[in-house]
Amino acid sequence: MTEKKSIYTQAVHAGERGPHPDFTPVNTPIYHSVGYLYDDLRDLDAVFGGERPGFVYTRYGSPTVLAFEQAVATLEEAGDAVAFASGMAALHAVLLGAGVRAGQAVVAAADVYGATYALLERLFPALGVRVRFVDITDHDQVARALAEEAPATVLCEVVSNPLMKVADVPVLAEMAHAAGATLIVDSTFASPYLLRPLEQGADYAVHSATKYLGGHGDVMAGVVACSATRGRDLRERQKLLGANLGPQEAWLAMRGLKTLPLRMRQHCANAQAVAEWLAGHPAVAAVHYPGMAGHPQHALAARLFQGRGYGGMLSFDLRGAGQAEVFRFMQALELVLPATTLGDVYSLTLYPAHSSHRLLSPEARAALGIGDGLVRLSVGIEDAQDIIADLKQALER
Ligand SMILES: Cc1ncc(COP(=O)(O)O)c(C=O)c1O
Repeated sequence: MTEKKSIYTQAVHAGERGPHPDFTPVNTPIYHSVGYLYDDLRDLDAVFGGERPGFVYTRYGSPTVLAFEQAVATLEEAGDAVAFASGMAALHAVLLGAGVRAGQAVVAAADVYGATYALLERLFPALGVRVRFVDITDHDQVARALAEEAPATVLCEVVSNPLMKVADVPVLAEMAHAAGATLIVDSTFASPYLLRPLEQGADYAVHSATKYLGGHGDVMAGVVACSATRGRDLRERQKLLGANLGPQEAWLAMRGLKTLPLRMRQHCANAQAVAEWLAGHPAVAAVHYPGMAGHPQHALAARLFQGRGYGGMLSFDLRGAGQAEVFRFMQALELVLPATTLGDVYSLTLYPAHSSHRLLSPEARAALGIGDGLVRLSVGIEDAQDIIADLKQALER
């Protein structure tokens, strides 16, 4: 095949598939290829059959995504990690992987992220799954639910949104296992900097990597860390569910991961300073932050996070405020941005009643303690004094 090809053929193939390089890029490249070639088709067959590692088709795995997965597995000290297109895709897959199906039950923390709550309250019951929401910090209530439902799995968040309740992961793991259930821990707010849920007995650690793992507000991603066996099962499911992470997103998430501990150290220090300052302001009725001595799970958080800090997330109640006053306050902020996400380098505010918990009825919100004056603050990595100065001028206005 040496004769000169037509420009149509040249345009398709020119420059591609050069000789195998004898160098290694320091940073994992973004493999934007859906298909992969092997010198011998029997190798392709062996990869398809799972007899050797390799890549055949991007929905079945790809090199950049695998690099991100291996990085997360290392940080979580897990046998495997499986990446998804978003945190919600990861949660959907992990519930199926944990054996949730028609006739089975899930026991879940009542204050899980709003979309997780809606997934459990709306989609799964329509498929014949029973879902029981509990106050995950009330272990008697959890024990009753386990005895009555005999669930396939228990789902909680290490630090919940927006009131920052802390779940006793080792105790919950013991309780779930004794009842024959697995424990899924959404560790988005904690990140492996504060806690490694598998080390504490959980079976799955789930992240919206859109948040702290990515860290820069430029990528949507989800990831599940678990044992190698559970990881193999999740990969098989992912081939069919198809909510895969793209290579570009995996690269961004992996780039974010490199500075996770540095960012988390600053997030934690800043949040502690901001929480203490807010607690002393007359316009603030209450501050919800696990680093405050008065927080109901402060001692538990100190034990679980072992002095590394208490995270970058806090919330506070503006005294006597409703939506109009909260909006006026949020719009008066100049540095702190009213954007609907968290865990970024930027400081961000959010009004839970109209965003993360909008899918809940007003009654369900009230039952969770999410009042009309509640503001959530994701404290960024700017200088703490600049964040405080901005909050001060906005509260004064
Ligand atoms: C604790 C938690 N879990 C899961 C999710 C869902 O993640 P994603 O938006 O990446 O789908 C979020 C999103 O805010 C979250 O805060």
